[in-house]
Amino acid sequence: MKDYRIEVNGLRKSYGGRVVNDIPKLTLAERRIEGLIGPNGAGKTTLMSLITGRIGADSGSVLLFQGDEATEISGLSQDRIARLGVVRTNQKIQDFESLTMEDSMMLSLATHRDESPWKLFGVRSFSDRCSPIIRNFVGALKLSDPSGRALSAGEKKLLDIVRCLLLKPKVLLMDEPTVGLPTDQTDEVMSLVRRIADQEDMKVVIIEHDLDLIWKVCEHVHFMADGKILLHGTPEEVRTNQLVRDKYMGESHA
Ligand SMILES: Nc1ncnc2c1ncn2[C@@H]1O[C@H](COP(=O)(O)OP(=O)(O)OP(=O)(O)O)[C@@H](O)[C@H]1O
Ligand SMILES: [Mg+2]
Repeated sequence: MKDYRIEVNGLRKSYGGRVVNDIPKLTLAERRIEGLIGPNGAGKTTLMSLITGRIGADSGSVLLFQGDEATEISGLSQDRIARLGVVRTNQKIQDFESLTMEDSMMLSLATHRDESPWKLFGVRSFSDRCSPIIRNFVGALKLSDPSGRALSAGEKKLLDIVRCLLLKPKVLLMDEPTVGLPTDQTDEVMSLVRRIADQEDMKVVIIEHDLDLIWKVCEHVHFMADGKILLHGTPEEVRTNQLVRDKYMGESHA
């Protein structure tokens, strides 16, 4: 199976005359699990939103590569980009209160298979096929009552991540996955993500301010500040870089 990666070329985005993303060239997801770090307001979430089509760029392009074959995804809808395999989890907690957790997961499975997911919803054979898949996720993440709605911040965050995983992404972009989750569940989520990454050949890019997590799980780290990617390297190279320390890290993380 050929590997997926993302290439960004000449990407620029401004708000009210202020440039918040200015990235001449960047390759993301070359390694299995990568980190994207940087201070508040660096432009990390904006970059994920540009890649996944949630917002449009002022200029530049985003390409999804599978081996040598490139597909331009800039300009496509968020939905289309997700179907091509680039999916993101959300920094802000999403509200799923109108659906039970199980239904919400089933909707993701239907979305993965069909352009009109609601058509599959009442179909018995489809829900029978979904049940074991959903049970697996519920078990792995120890979700207490999946027949209820996601009410706590932690449940909403987990559900957001599970819904993304059910879309079977080729490249999963995770925006601050640990915020709102208790530590033990963070560990469970990260080991589940790592397992799926290995088994299903999924690439993962994680934005996090929890640098210990970044150093622990990532093979490669990109450092961003003031809308620009300033440095890439191994966790050790980035962790010990003076620029990263000056612009971002407290000595506690060094
Ligand atoms: N819709 C918007 N309108 C105006 N300014 C925006 C908008 N979205 C983001 N910004 C600005 O763009 C800059 C980059 O924001 P972004 O959310 O990408 O940063 P970030 O690196 O994700 O920060 P954090 O670590 O705090 O999540 C910030 O200064 C932010 O205020
Ligand atoms: Mg952000």
